[in-house]
Amino acid sequence: MQFKIIRPDDWHLHVRSGEALKSVIGMSAKQMGRAIIMPNLTPPVINADQATDYRNEIINALPKNSSFNPLMVLYLTDNTSTRDIELASASSIVKAAKLYPAGATTNSDSGVTDITNIYPALEAMSKAGMPLLVHGEVTRHDVDIFDREAVFIDQTLSKVVLDFPDLKVVFEHITTKEAVDFVLNGSANIAATITPHHLLANRNDMLVGGIRPHYFCLPILKREKPHQLALLDAATSGNAKFFLGTDSAPHTKHAKESSCGCAGILSAHCAIELYASVFESKNALDKLEGFASRFGPQFYSLPPNTDTITLTKQDWVVPDSYEYAGSVIVPFMAGKKLSWKMS
Ligand code: DOR
Ligand code: ZN
Repeated sequence: MQFKIIRPDDWHLHVRSGEALKSVIGMSAKQMGRAIIMPNLTPPVINADQATDYRNEIINALPKNSSFNPLMVLYLTDNTSTRDIELASASSIVKAAKLYPAGATTNSDSGVTDITNIYPALEAMSKAGMPLLVHGEVTRHDVDIFDREAVFIDQTLSKVVLDFPDLKVVFEHITTKEAVDFVLNGSANIAATITPHHLLANRNDMLVGGIRPHYFCLPILKREKPHQLALLDAATSGNAKFFLGTDSAPHTKHAKESSCGCAGILSAHCAIELYASVFESKNALDKLEGFASRFGPQFYSLPPNTDTITLTKQDWVVPDSYEYAGSVIVPFMAGKKLSWKMS
C-alpha cells in the first residue's frame, strides 16, 4: 500500500549549530519543506540580525540542491523591545517569537522571568501579526513537574489570551488534556503543535522497568489516560487547530545517559513515518495530510508546499544510533520496527 501527501512542514524543530547542525539538518530537509527553527542556542537568537546569521548557517549546512526553507524565531527575554519585534517582523525571515519561561527547559536561562516583562513585545507582535510560540510550563519549585503545563494554563496563558485577544498563539508540544481543551475552547487565534513522542509514548514508557533517559523530554511525558489519549484524539480529529511540530531535539548519547540526563528526543530521522503510524492506529490516515501539510501553513498564513511525498507500507528497523557531532545520538524508536517508509 502506498499514498501521497503534500510535502509536510515541521512547525517546531531544534537543529542546534556547528557540527551538531550538520549531523541532523539532512534528516529534516529530506522530509520537510520548511521548519520553524527554535532559537534556544547558547547564546540565544534574540534579534533579527542573529536570526539572519543563524539562517545562513543552516542554509550552508543543507545537502546540495535541497530546497528546505528554515523559518526563524526570536527568543524572547525580559529585555526584548518593541523595536526588536518591529525589526524582526520587517525582516521577512523571522516568522514568530518564542516564550521560554526562565529555567523551563534546555537553554532557557535567558528566558522570561515574569510574563508582564514582555507585555510591550506582545503588544507589538499582536499588531504585526507575529505568532507567539509558547513553552507552556511554570517553573516554580513548589509545582510538581507533571502539573506544570496545567498550572501554566491557569496562571499565565489564560491571562495572555484575554489581554491580547488578537495575538496568534501556538501552544507548543502540548502534553495534557487540559491543553487540548484550552486550545479547543480558545479563539481561532489559538493553535497547538503535537509531537510524535507525546502521541506514541507515555510516562510508563519512560519509567516502568527502569529509567529510560531517551524518553526524557520537556514537557515530560504524561499519563496515558486521560492525557496521551486526548492528544491522539486531537491530532487525528481533522481540527485545523492542531498541527505537526516534532520538537526533535538532539543531544548526544552521553549527555542523555548521565546521572543528570538532559531533555530532548531526536525524531527528525523518521518524523513523518511516526505520525503515519499514529494516524493509522486511529484509522485516520485520511487526516494525516491536513495535520502534517495544510493546517500549519494555514495558521502561519503561508501557502502549502507544492510538491508531494510518498508513504509506503513497508517494515524497516530504526538504527540503534546515528553519528552526531563527532559523537553518537540515540534516536527515538532506536532498534524498533516501523511499518511506514517515506520514499
Ligand atoms: O525536551 C526538550 N528539549 N524540550 C524543550 O523544550 C527543549 C528541547 C531542547 O532544546 O533540547
Ligand atoms: Zn522545543
